[in-house]
Amino acid sequence: FYSSGIIGIGSYVPEKILTNHDLEKMVDTSDEWITTRTGIKERHIVADDQAASDLATIAALRALEDASIGTADIDLIIVSTNSPDYMNFPATACVVQDNIGAAKAATFDVEAGCSGFIYAVTIADQFIKTGMYKNVLVVATEIMSKITNWDDRETCVLFGDGAAAVLLSRVEEGLGISSSFLGADGSGGKYLLLPAGGSRKPASYETVEKKLHTIHMDGKEVFKFAVRVMGEAALKALDIAGLKPEDVDIFIPHQANIRIIDAAMKRLNLSKEKVYVNIDRFGNTSSASIPIALDELYRNGKLKKGDCILLTAFGTGLTYASMTMRW
Ligand code: ACO
Repeated sequence: FYSSGIIGIGSYVPEKILTNHDLEKMVDTSDEWITTRTGIKERHIVADDQAASDLATIAALRALEDASIGTADIDLIIVSTNSPDYMNFPATACVVQDNIGAAKAATFDVEAGCSGFIYAVTIADQFIKTGMYKNVLVVATEIMSKITNWDDRETCVLFGDGAAAVLLSRVEEGLGISSSFLGADGSGGKYLLLPAGGSRKPASYETVEKKLHTIHMDGKEVFKFAVRVMGEAALKALDIAGLKPEDVDIFIPHQANIRIIDAAMKRLNLSKEKVYVNIDRFGNTSSASIPIALDELYRNGKLKKGDCILLTAFGTGLTYASMTMRW
């Protein structure tokens, strides 16, 4: 088996910023409520003509440049998204493949909610470990603003848009991905869903009128689930790698709500300095939130070779996932 890890990373968030004060003019909310309940101050929002693959393409090219790998050498592209270009096909990964000219690459999308990045990297890891593929590009890209009901104050304050990509390849032994733990509880699917547009409820005048093509969420149920599984999943991933929470140098939790992050931090008994938080500037960018944070850390020179990194997420499905790696 080969060791596999990240050899290049890049991200992209749209320029336009929507602040809590902007939202105060749109729905009955306040900067104070959003800040204290979620930790979010502002989020980036795409222009009307941008789709998930456009963000993904910029992030992917940045990751390839960082890895010094040409598009001709990519064996597989996996895109994680909850907001694909097309409902339901072609896969966004196919659009990205064409955009970057990676003609030899196989392509598919992964839909695992906000846990999608860890799911996709886990899949990539298997292909590289077995030797079937050498270079796998994983891109998480989300345009939550286009599936948001901007009249629903409980959800519209939470999400933001953005994308990030990593190039995974063979790395020296002892570095790269050391463990991964994936899980789901499908019985919780009803708590966070986009009700229409699929084969269950195809698009009709009625679905549009009732805003069934936007996020419907039972925030309290999702919150309870998240607080429970974030700590559990992280401990499982650590255990598989033979690690303890005190071995972790940097913990990057999915950026959904600062109170969920605080709960996970307490469960793992980690100090604040070890936990990376950027939810105040980006909101919840769904499956892109972890790699955007990872890229920020990397670009700011905060990652040292051999650092033990713990990633943990939860999301629609409901899903959960955690992973450990040596940078
Ligand atoms: N501004 C002002 N008041 C609000 C807002 C708002 N934006 N939203 C809700 N409220 C009100 C509610 O109506 C309620 O009023 P009431 O008491 O008169 O009924 C009050 O605030 C309290 O509401 P709660 O639901 O108790 O607020 P809570 O503290 O649970 O926070 C929140 C709500 C932030 C949504 C929280 O439940 C949460 O973060 N849940 C997890 C959501 C999440 O992470 N989803 C993404 C999953 S990832 C993915 O895969 C996409």
